[in-house]
Amino acid sequence: MKVLITGGAGFIGSRLAELLHSHGDEITVLDNLSTGRKENLAGLEGKTGFRFVLGNVADRSTVEPLVAQAEHVYHLAAPVGVKRIMDHPVLTILDNVRGADVMTETAHKYGAKMLVASTSEVYGRSLDLLDPTGTRKLAEEDYRIEGSTQNHRWAYANTKALDEFLALAYYKEFGFQTVIVRFFNTVGPRQLSDYGMVIPNFVRRALRKEPIEIYGTGEQKRSFLHVNDAIRAVVALMNEPAAVGQVFNLGNPEEITINELARKVMAVAGSDVPPVYKDYQSAYGKGFEDMNRRTADITKIRAAIGFEITYSIEEIIADVVEYERSVVYANV
Ligand SMILES: NC(=O)c1ccc[n+]([C@@H]2O[C@H](COP(=O)([O-])OP(=O)(O)OC[C@H]3O[C@@H](n4cnc5c(N)ncnc54)[C@H](O)[C@@H]3O)[C@@H](O)[C@H]2O)c1
Repeated sequence: MKVLITGGAGFIGSRLAELLHSHGDEITVLDNLSTGRKENLAGLEGKTGFRFVLGNVADRSTVEPLVAQAEHVYHLAAPVGVKRIMDHPVLTILDNVRGADVMTETAHKYGAKMLVASTSEVYGRSLDLLDPTGTRKLAEEDYRIEGSTQNHRWAYANTKALDEFLALAYYKEFGFQTVIVRFFNTVGPRQLSDYGMVIPNFVRRALRKEPIEIYGTGEQKRSFLHVNDAIRAVVALMNEPAAVGQVFNLGNPEEITINELARKVMAVAGSDVPPVYKDYQSAYGKGFEDMNRRTADITKIRAAIGFEITYSIEEIIADVVEYERSVVYANV
């Protein structure tokens, strides 16, 4: 299979590239290296059946010849991380929207099947507002409740929702072969700590014996899926004919509070430095909103591909600690 992975030098994309290459697929990675790194692809560099192309998904002249040669396209390229999104509001909108336009149009034109990486951000704050008692999980058909256009966080959510709408519109109008995956928090080695990603952030601070910084009360709940579980599911969805034209949640329904997460990270990393608490405003600017819970209902993906979670939160933390230890100590 000839495969194009946009954003393939990133955290999820580079692991996906390795997995598909190990299956014998021919892989092209297109990435502008904004948050991705060539080092992530070091294991593939120079191997037969792998090539890297530096470029932007919004640039039609770069994209078109690559899509023309591909049978499967995994469209993962996007500005990522709450912090980066808040710091680069224009780029977030334009790269997502223009990238979606170019990728969807060319994939349709050349008959490639495309999997679109969407995000749990598209649900906005619907769990907080529809289910304040906190037992419900987010299902694919649920209403999406987002805030004011003055709060840029929701621009990211809306551009990703637009990516979904566009792919589904091509499916409905032209029979475009597409699958949409809403990633919830996906974690593991190689994820950058720089853009507001909670686990690598906590792990780095704990390894350096610095206080972990918790935003808000720490009683907000999150859930985490290991990247190895995520990429297996993504490949299975791409290869499942019944998944075409469908939207799937991909996440771990088991929740943990941020306070509990901090305790677990400190225990594994061997830190006894107490956490410090910061308000969201000082971290992300005035008017920033966060959600108390954001948990996936995974009934649909289980039924479609028999999705199973194989990593516990303890195993995820241990894996990230092991990786970050090599990075942190390499830099000391
Ligand atoms: N990791 C998560 O928890 C999570 C959660 C929700 C959604 N997602 C989605 O999954 C996808 C992959 O995310 P990730 O966690 O691997 O992040 P990442 O930042 O490691 O990967 C994104 C990659 O896209 C590249 N990129 C960004 N803009 C580009 C552009 N205009 N043209 C070409 N390349 C570009 C970056 O350099 C990077 O390599 C993204 O679409 C993201 O929205 C991830």
